[in-house]
Amino acid sequence: SASANRVIIQTDIGRGTINPNIYGHFAEHLGRCIYEGFWVGEDSPIPNTKGIRNDVVEALRKLNIPVLRWPGGCFADEYHWKDGIGPREQRKEMINTHWGGVVENNHFGTHEFLLLCETLGCEPYISGNVGSGTVQEMSEWVEYMTFEGVSPMSKLRKENGREEPWALKYFGVGNENWGCGGNMRPEYYADLYRQYQTYVRNYGENKIYKIACGPNSDDYNWMEVVMREAGRYMDAISLHYYTVPGTWKEKGSATEFTAEDWFVTMKKTLHMDELLTKHKAIMDRHDPDKRVALIVDEWGTWFDVEPGTNPGFLYQQNTMRDALVAGLNLHLFHNHNDRVQMANIAQTVNVLQSVILTEGAKMVLTPTYHVFDMYKVHQGAERLETHGTFASYAQGGEALEQVSVSASRDAQGRIHISLCNLDPGSEAKVELDLRGLAGGYAVSGTVLASSGMQDHNSFDEPDKVAPQAYHGAEKNEGGLTAVLPPMSLVVLELREE
Ligand code: AHR
Repeated sequence: SASANRVIIQTDIGRGTINPNIYGHFAEHLGRCIYEGFWVGEDSPIPNTKGIRNDVVEALRKLNIPVLRWPGGCFADEYHWKDGIGPREQRKEMINTHWGGVVENNHFGTHEFLLLCETLGCEPYISGNVGSGTVQEMSEWVEYMTFEGVSPMSKLRKENGREEPWALKYFGVGNENWGCGGNMRPEYYADLYRQYQTYVRNYGENKIYKIACGPNSDDYNWMEVVMREAGRYMDAISLHYYTVPGTWKEKGSATEFTAEDWFVTMKKTLHMDELLTKHKAIMDRHDPDKRVALIVDEWGTWFDVEPGTNPGFLYQQNTMRDALVAGLNLHLFHNHNDRVQMANIAQTVNVLQSVILTEGAKMVLTPTYHVFDMYKVHQGAERLETHGTFASYAQGGEALEQVSVSASRDAQGRIHISLCNLDPGSEAKVELDLRGLAGGYAVSGTVLASSGMQDHNSFDEPDKVAPQAYHGAEKNEGGLTAVLPPMSLVVLELREE
């Protein structure tokens, strides 16, 4: 029934910090993500600073983007970093064999990426090449970026115009080495991981946080073997899981879908909860002190490409459905914050579940962008104990809980409660029982909603789906009653007064 969502929020019981890096991003040399999306080159008529688009940087800075993963993805295990340094006109032209067979001119390389991160004010997270690279190549890359003293690689860096080393924390030792990164068995990868990471050195004050390649979705054996054999040599292990409503062959359209497809998309997204729970249980056996973090460095929706676009470019539109997928996943990452210390949505611009789409000089912010914007208040905040009983959202004999909720308290003492109504057909009435509040408080809120399931922002209609002020919450004795429109996300802010 419409009144069956009851949520208790213990405002006085903290459950650990929500690591800001859970709001991280991923950008690969794939389709129009790096080229066109971030990099237009210094001579472009599109407003840029040293070749990097100003509009995209400004939009991402507004999200407080904490960390950006690069250069892949599958591209990482084919990437040879020395091809991407030195005078641009002398850099190698080659084919991006994995993604669309287009020319890669290597104009965006190490210097450009680290400049991008400095401009965004975010941490770089670099994925090294295990699948087709050497131990020496990986070791020299880290030396090139982070060594201050006298060495062949620091000399080369200085010749290329960068005197000071960069600070680099996050470094991945391979990507999807069970697949595009070398089709390895976990036993073999675990040994290679141990070998490669030995030569990923800490120079001076720079301390690298080493991330091992973890499993594909429910490959629990991969997690078991890699944790058992190599867990003690890593700071974190990754997990990749995408929301694919159909099959890998026919994934389904991003914009043309039914109420059944919507339901399946929500259900498959919520599968992340089971994956995190089970992978964490394996990690707990090998690392009971939770020293090693779990990093979901690829997640998001994966649909069929937009009709008429290069199938290797993975360009898809982004609707209200994507917004809900983002909200649900972010809540799950919050809830698993005893292990989940980073997550990187795939992929920032023009690829898969992007927050930004571009077309020439034009830029559109997707519904997913608005979720990251509304939810940024959770970054670095203390998660609050929350539990509830929920109405059911039923479809074709199956049911999910209608509402998902997460709450946190920030450094200024403000409480933020984010709520998702998954149900495209009915509004959700939520009784919020706020426990442990000392005094009175003022409530305000923001809502992201739209009347159609398939509503999205296009270059003709860029603001069709946009956040609005929310007026659906009413105070009562024990807390609040909030009415959520069908298929919507609401973030409430409570300020003590
Ligand atoms: O994000 C697209 C691709 O998905 C990545 O390159 C790869 O790691 C994964 O299979």
